Amino acid sequence: MKRIPEPELMEDEDQVRAYAGADFADAHRNFITLFQATFGQKDLCGYVLDLGCGHGDITMRFARAYPKCIVHGIDGSEAMIRCGKGILKEAHDIQDRVVLIRGMLSASVLPYRKYDIVISNSLIHHLAMPHTLYQCIERYAVSGAPVFIMDLRRPQSTGEADSLVQTYAAHEPEILKRDFYNSLLAAYTIEEIREQLQGTKLAHLSVKAVGDRHIVISGYKV
Ligand SMILES: C[S@@+](CC[C@H](N)C(=O)[O-])C[C@H]1O[C@@H](n2cnc3c(N)ncnc32)[C@H](O)[C@@H]1O
Repeated sequence: MKRIPEPELMEDEDQVRAYAGADFADAHRNFITLFQATFGQKDLCGYVLDLGCGHGDITMRFARAYPKCIVHGIDGSEAMIRCGKGILKEAHDIQDRVVLIRGMLSASVLPYRKYDIVISNSLIHHLAMPHTLYQCIERYAVSGAPVFIMDLRRPQSTGEADSLVQTYAAHEPEILKRDFYNSLLAAYTIEEIREQLQGTKLAHLSVKAVGDRHIVISGYKV
């Protein structure tokens, strides 16, 4: 099935409200669990960069899972970052270790020159030019940094996309079902991601299918 792009930024207030109100607990817990299975559960420390952090749910979960880390999340959507900052205000246990920054991946200068760990969830399918993400990692990650990127993978057909929406979002509001469907159609395939990585300094990373709808790209930056 041909890829159908969706807009890069999630700036619509209704869309952000629905996204922040959705129950992503299982999916986001799974992100942390898979990260831990790949890189270990404890003792990671240093500065972490979460690219396309949205309202910072994974950014904050990561900070709780790794108490020796300081986590910076960046997102181009003002509405997402505003929503995340509101949540962070009440998150007294981690608010001194989490910073949410509004900025585009391609144009932003981040507060830290090099990060020890880079993570990203559900960003690539928004990007018309996924190299923006890979270049950002090349620029901002130290050599040897764990890199962990998770995203949707494009189903074979619109029928398969429909059935994934039914399985995972049947009880969510219409706006979320629509976004999930559009995101599945905008997602890249494993083969497309492997091809994108060729010729970058991340070509050695592992790219694999996880479960019925995700791709994980992981490994250490050289
Ligand atoms: C589906 S959301 C995922 C948010 C978060 N990572 C999560 O898992 O909940 C994708 C986010 O990427 C952001 N985004 C898309 N393209 C971007 C870009 N070029 N620079 C910065 N942020 C971008 C969008 O605004 C949106 O908040």
